[in-house]
Amino acid sequence: MANVLVVVGSPRKGGNTEILASHIAEGAASSGASVETIHLGDLVIRECDGCHACWRGRPCSKDDDMRAVYAKIAACESLVFGTPVYWYGPTALMKAFVDRFVYFNCEANRSMVRGKRTAVAIVLEETHEETWRPVVEFFRKSLAYLEMDLAETIVVPGVGEKGAIRREPQRLDEAHRLGGRLATGR
Ligand SMILES: Cc1cc2nc3c(=O)[nH]c(=O)nc-3n(C[C@H](O)[C@H](O)[C@H](O)COP(=O)(O)O)c2cc1C
Repeated sequence: MANVLVVVGSPRKGGNTEILASHIAEGAASSGASVETIHLGDLVIRECDGCHACWRGRPCSKDDDMRAVYAKIAACESLVFGTPVYWYGPTALMKAFVDRFVYFNCEANRSMVRGKRTAVAIVLEETHEETWRPVVEFFRKSLAYLEMDLAETIVVPGVGEKGAIRREPQRLDEAHRLGGRLATGR
């Protein structure tokens, strides 16, 4: 059974990212996947400071919740990154999370993520492509560098206030189908 890890990078509980991510999760689960959703706002994930202990075969020097999340990332078959746009980038929570992927940027740990199927889910208030495109590029380039497979991207612009995405049922259906594809590998 496919194992899908969904990462919610918005600090706003019940917000648009969480709703979008939940539809991906439900789509994956309804296609038979085992799904776990984690909320970065519930965890303590400190910044990477580039000490590179991980590159010398040691655990990450930051003894925080990311140590457990590393194991979840290694174990999953598909990984979903969900974030709103915050000042033309991902949230600070999501950026700190991705910074900690330095852990996988060495030969000993790379095999834990190499080829892993990923999806990116982005929400934002504005509607211009130039607002969200750099965020997609941030993920595309970072995941390519890590030899991960960015298989799916969903961007929902024009959703500002909490829950506004519920007025976009077609986009939520799209997210559900995306989750199904992650589960089946198709
Ligand atoms: C600190 C902050 C910065 C934001 N920056 C942008 C931005 O640059 N462009 C944009 O379109 N929306 C921006 N927004 C709006 C959010 O992307 C939007 O409200 C989104 O739906 C929030 O998702 P959430 O409900 O999952 O938290 C910002 C919101 C906050 C709180």
